Amino acid sequence: MLFDKQTYVQRRSILKEQVGSGIILLMGNNDSPSNYPANAYRFRQDSSFLYYFGQHREGLAGIIDIDNNREYLVGNDIDIEDIVWFGSVDSVADMAAQSGVANTLTMAQMADFLSLAKKEGRTIHFLPPYRHDLMIQLMDMLGIHPSQQRSQASVALIKAIVNQRAVKTPEEIAEIERACAIGYEMHTTAMKMCRPGVTEQEISGRISGIASSKGCMVSFQSIVSMHGEIMHGYPSPRPLEAGRLLLCDAGAETNENYCSDNTRTTPISGRFTQRQKEIYSIVEQCHDYALSLAAPGVKWWDVHFGVCRLMTDKLKELGLMKGDTEEAVQAGAHAMFMPHGLGHMMGMDVHDMEGLGQTYVGFDDEVKPNLEQFGTNCLRCGRRLQEGFVMTDEPGIYFIPALIDDWKASGHCAEFLNFDLLETYKDFGGIRIEDDILITSDGCRYLGKDRIPYHINEVEEFINK
Ligand code: GLY
Repeated sequence: MLFDKQTYVQRRSILKEQVGSGIILLMGNNDSPSNYPANAYRFRQDSSFLYYFGQHREGLAGIIDIDNNREYLVGNDIDIEDIVWFGSVDSVADMAAQSGVANTLTMAQMADFLSLAKKEGRTIHFLPPYRHDLMIQLMDMLGIHPSQQRSQASVALIKAIVNQRAVKTPEEIAEIERACAIGYEMHTTAMKMCRPGVTEQEISGRISGIASSKGCMVSFQSIVSMHGEIMHGYPSPRPLEAGRLLLCDAGAETNENYCSDNTRTTPISGRFTQRQKEIYSIVEQCHDYALSLAAPGVKWWDVHFGVCRLMTDKLKELGLMKGDTEEAVQAGAHAMFMPHGLGHMMGMDVHDMEGLGQTYVGFDDEVKPNLEQFGTNCLRCGRRLQEGFVMTDEPGIYFIPALIDDWKASGHCAEFLNFDLLETYKDFGGIRIEDDILITSDGCRYLGKDRIPYHINEVEEFINK
């Protein structure tokens, strides 16, 4: 367990108070087979289960019976065959004691417990499941078909968990800083490797190896691509080509599952061309502008749109956009270049708590998501920032040939876009700069001891050293 037992006891106590009544059911994850049951993907515990119970073993669940003030750690003890193959592990009772939980149940006993609770008409709060094995288990235990489980998940529980997990404590921030330090090593290695002839996969493999060698894993599948215009462009075996840019978006996840997430865009020839500099410098200014705006009480929505307006102004100077900036942004014309949000919360999940539902995590009664407008519908957070939030600041400018063709053909936002000039950028790729920031009492600060070089001069100097 990462933290002291009291941390978990206290987190559950706050959760109980916030939810108020009923039974809270938090499912841990099971091993997930890759191609046959004994050959599983690397195990990843569910973050909310981990947050409240701190245990990493597969096949566990937690129950908090608020009405009777009883807590249970649920799981089956392993048998001699498991010990032969995988070695001995703590018993469920030992794990419960470590987590400050007084009671244990087997999986079969949990099913009986929940069945009785259902008969008695008690409220069972559960989270929207995202793994199919757990959907089946929930259907068996609660009688709710998987297609209904997301809509019947407990909004009270989701909101209570979001409230707690969104604000990071100093001990959590220290763990995120550890992830950022590994991310620094990953990114600086990728930047140094970025030379004509090296393949995207070689770079991706090397940076994954850095994470693995520290017992960690990557916090999501690394994006390492000369096609930076593809938002999630995964590494190919193609050798890097002189003159192009390499976009690397990658992060580490510590053994205790706290994440980092950074992006750098590096010139493969060692120097940016004039055209690349012009676009890079806009992204750089947008990145820094977000840092100057982000502070407690400020809506992330306003930081995002402040950046979109600055980007539009600068793209107008290059002749790629035109017209009134405010109207262009209102119409969503900037999404031709940045079809994603400025950033997301980060913590135990790289997109923190996204499985609980973007509407509850990033938005609230005051700031509602816009799910209709292209680009704005990918903004994962809009709500007012609070001290202790961890966000990513990740503006980007991309030239997506299919999107240019699509909008040109339909005339979408034609009054704000210079399609003739856009044609000449179709082989440009994309640029993103991303850092992780902590909202502090009076603004924000970078996470990670060292900052991965990102200013144009710094990047060129660093890769040519
Ligand atoms: N860094 C990858 C993502 O946020 O989707």
